[in-house]
Amino acid sequence: MEQRAPRRAPAPLPSLPPRLALPALLALLLAPALRASGPALWPQPLSVKLSPSALHLAPERFLISHGPGSTAGPACSILEEAFRRYYEFIFGFYKWHHGLADIRTGTELKQLLVTVVLDSECHVFPSISSDESYYLVVNGSVAVLKANRVWGALRGLETFSQLIYQDSYGTFTINESNIIDSPRFPHRGILIDTARHYLPVKTILKTLDAMAFNKLNVLHWHIVDDQSFPFQSVTFPELSNKGSYLVSHVYTQHDIHMVTQYARLRGIRVIPEFDTPGHTQSWGKGQKDLLTPCYNGQKKLLGTFGPINPVPDTTYDFLSKFFGEISKVFPDQFIHLGGDEVEFECWASNPEIRNFMMQKGFGTDFKKLQSFYVQKLLEIISTTNKSSVVWQEVFDNGGKLQPGTVIEVWKNENYPEELQHATQAGFPVILAAPWYLDWISYGQDWRKYYQVEPLDFPGTDEQKKLIIGGEACLWGEYVDATNLTPRLWPRASAVGERLWSHRDVKDIYDAYDRLRRHRCRMVRRGIAAEPLFTGYCEHDNKMQQ
Ligand SMILES: *[C@@H]1O[C@H](CO)[C@@H](O)[C@H](O)[C@H]1NC(C)=O
Ligand SMILES: *[C@@H]1O[C@H](CO)[C@@H](O)[C@H](O)[C@H]1NC(C)=O
Ligand SMILES: *[C@@H]1O[C@H](CO)[C@@H](O)[C@H](O)[C@H]1NC(C)=O
Repeated sequence: MEQRAPRRAPAPLPSLPPRLALPALLALLLAPALRASGPALWPQPLSVKLSPSALHLAPERFLISHGPGSTAGPACSILEEAFRRYYEFIFGFYKWHHGLADIRTGTELKQLLVTVVLDSECHVFPSISSDESYYLVVNGSVAVLKANRVWGALRGLETFSQLIYQDSYGTFTINESNIIDSPRFPHRGILIDTARHYLPVKTILKTLDAMAFNKLNVLHWHIVDDQSFPFQSVTFPELSNKGSYLVSHVYTQHDIHMVTQYARLRGIRVIPEFDTPGHTQSWGKGQKDLLTPCYNGQKKLLGTFGPINPVPDTTYDFLSKFFGEISKVFPDQFIHLGGDEVEFECWASNPEIRNFMMQKGFGTDFKKLQSFYVQKLLEIISTTNKSSVVWQEVFDNGGKLQPGTVIEVWKNENYPEELQHATQAGFPVILAAPWYLDWISYGQDWRKYYQVEPLDFPGTDEQKKLIIGGEACLWGEYVDATNLTPRLWPRASAVGERLWSHRDVKDIYDAYDRLRRHRCRMVRRGIAAEPLFTGYCEHDNKMQQ
């Protein structure tokens, strides 16, 4: 696909004929004063009113604190830590500008007061039904941020920080403004894959930082797969002892706790994926007799295994104990059970399995066997009081699913039809198909992600309500800690706005201008987000630290 630069893409330097060299030089010297400034909001809030009157902020005096009557006081670490973080994001690079003329005139904004109105939910984990709405007024010397819960306060702090910019003299400036905001979809996710390559905990935490800057709220952690099993189970330690790439390439319970807490403080849920019965080669190394032995005719092939063996009771004993542990280690209500791309050849080669199929009356329909397995697994999950997410094949195979099982649609071909079918059957759906960020190509592919409309499929209003959101997926075959961040950002930001903002927010030129500056802001905050196109950031040097 041919990708062209948007018409409004700025040229970094004016290229003028030689006889205009002097004016061009002058223009360059004056550039900071002429540079278009103002806030770059991303994702675009529901309603934004900016007034032409501007206030200035003095870093040495400015305060973010709890507002009168807030249900979240100093004991609310979510907000206490967020106040510190956002102060740093707003002024942290101040030292870079110290020495520039800082001319402050007019009214000074002295304080942001943050008030949580209802039960704050400070000490719990966020959930699919968390209220993220907020209301922000900047008027006179005090700004007010109001939210029903801490989750909305976190989103409002991000927006407040995005409203502040430096004027042509380097003065921190904010326009008087009035913002009312809430997300369009409750599930706005990023999939990371720590099985094809191990990702250090530090990289995962960095990803959570960037997610918060984009108001994304679900980390879908595809933690294990064929290639490696880095999850350290207390009940079955051999799984990672034998199944991880290296003994150091594991996630201990302490690591997981660190990730889920770090995420909670940013209003982000962590949904682990333990994909079965396929994609499980690494499980077989530490758990004897779990996988299906493959046969060549009557002969068992030594060391060749297929998907999890769905026949013996020992399989389900193992799964009960294993998922019993998972349900305690990961606090979220949901566990992703995978269920994609199950290869049937090995099952078909195995005489024990063929016998079992005959007894059950499945004939040679291995989809029925997969459904048999999945139903037993779903029953196990419901005894732990958790809910399940599965990849679309589990629905496609036609087995009986418990109501409320979430279907994740990933196959790109004709995905609107799949959305239609899954919602017709009454299941909640997550859309991932158009957002496989591991597929890379030349040019500005963020626009393709941006232009997706999740509700563009034939169906009733009731069906559309079942689309709970979407995910940008970065599978890890060609991704490790060296390139994860630039490959994810700002491409995933496009998905972030699509899932947060009103469906009418779709002007690609306006989006380009805001996203270009949002990307520079991410860079300034220490995220190695790649450029959208030619140009520069004012704080490029930050990444060279
Ligand atoms: C913000 O304030 C500045 C300074 O008064 C003004 O030039 C600019 O137009 C304002 N922005 C908006 C969107 O009103
Ligand atoms: C600021 O407050 C004044 C007086 O209360 C009001 O008239 C004005 O509309 C407010 N401005 C904004 C942007 O809310
Ligand atoms: C699941 O929930 C039920 C009812 O709320 C409760 O009685 C039961 O103990 C819970 N089971 C687990 C494993 O948490």
